Amino acid sequence: MKGIVLAGGSGTRLLPLTRTVSKQLLPVYDKPALYYPLSTLMLAGIQDILIISTPRDLPRIAELLGDGEYLGLRLEYAEQARPRGIADAFLVGSEFIAGEPVCLILGDNLFYGHDLPHLLRRAIAAHAGATVFAYSVRKPEHYGVVEFDQGGHPIDIVEKPHQPRSRWAVTGLYLYDQQVVDIARSLRPSVRGELEITDVNRAYLQRGELAVVRLGRGHAWLDTGTPATLLQASQFVQTLEERQGVKIACLEEIALRQGWISRDRLRGLTDQYASSDYGLYLQQLSEASVGG
Ligand code: DAU
Repeated sequence: MKGIVLAGGSGTRLLPLTRTVSKQLLPVYDKPALYYPLSTLMLAGIQDILIISTPRDLPRIAELLGDGEYLGLRLEYAEQARPRGIADAFLVGSEFIAGEPVCLILGDNLFYGHDLPHLLRRAIAAHAGATVFAYSVRKPEHYGVVEFDQGGHPIDIVEKPHQPRSRWAVTGLYLYDQQVVDIARSLRPSVRGELEITDVNRAYLQRGELAVVRLGRGHAWLDTGTPATLLQASQFVQTLEERQGVKIACLEEIALRQGWISRDRLRGLTDQYASSDYGLYLQQLSEASVGG
């Protein structure tokens, strides 16, 4: 399975923070926001990843992450000239996808939960059609919302409904089979002028090929799209990291634990971080003294 991180958009809700910096490069506590969705793909076992962003921001993102080889990844980059909608990722990325199944994650989403990697791997292994992950929230009207029948089967998905039919928001993590590019090509822009990911999901639903996995309350799903949620995400990460002494979304650590890089290789990566907390953590990891 291939992976796409959609990391464009104009970040208007974060102005003036985003006047000159991509919102996916803003800090979530001790690392750029983009590390978190990228780490989710890595935990799912995905190594071929396309990062899509704006012409302005893509060079800085590429400078940050490079070709990914040092993480055991194959990273590619593509520009989205205008924010034409989330489903546009499949048009921008059609050559990269090359008829394979694909996992899309939004660059401002943060997922955390002890069995998330397992859940994702299971969903990928059993995969056909589309799988979305739903999360119960207090304000579902800000999201795509799933409606279920009495038997718990999804019957409708509505984008930002005024009167939500459930509290189950569709999160920014999606798995699709090879039909997705054709479905995206068949879409018409919505009233807000975007190719809507909700319309892709509805197309799968109508074909009877949409699975909705509910993330229970033991999971955290946060986004970093506004000053308040950016701060909340930072505080969440800081709280857990300081309490446990392990890092969330440390890409080098995930690469090591996945067996994609060796401890020797990791040791070679630590110098560039000088005496930062992150660098110190990598150094301890390379000496096998963190988290066993
Ligand atoms: O976060 C989950 C929600 O994401 C879903 O519940 C909704 O169904 C889905 O439409 C989306 O809603 P948002 O209103 O949060 O989407 P937003 O326009 O903020 O875009 C999400 C991210 O994707 C954001 O970081 C910017 C990026 N993006 C967005 C668009 C429309 C792009 O890179 N390119 C785009 O064209």
